[in-house]
Amino acid sequence: MSYYQRHVFVCTNRREDNIACCNNGVADDGRAYLKDRIKDLGENGPGRVRVSSSGCLGRCAQGPVLVVYPEGTWYTWVDNEDLDDIIEQHLLSGTPVQRLLIDE
Ligand code: FES
Repeated sequence: MSYYQRHVFVCTNRREDNIACCNNGVADDGRAYLKDRIKDLGENGPGRVRVSSSGCLGRCAQGPVLVVYPEGTWYTWVDNEDLDDIIEQHLLSGTPVQRLLIDE
């Protein structure tokens, strides 16, 4: 069994070379929102959900992006409503949020 049931990596990388990137002003806030919501729901910690910041995940043009393991499910998101859907449908219930998936 995995130490965490699900581990979310939120790209908070900011590129300075005018190339599209995840941290156009929302990634840091989104990661904090996701982390706080999981904690408020009592779903953080071993055997549950972990939210971590990540450097560039190599999918900059599709950002902001996050990936959920162990499934390896990639999402793009724009606001807290999207993050709420990812929390409720995927992280807590195991069902990917189809409208936010990034094609493999
Ligand atoms: S800056 Fe987020 S994937 Fe590259």
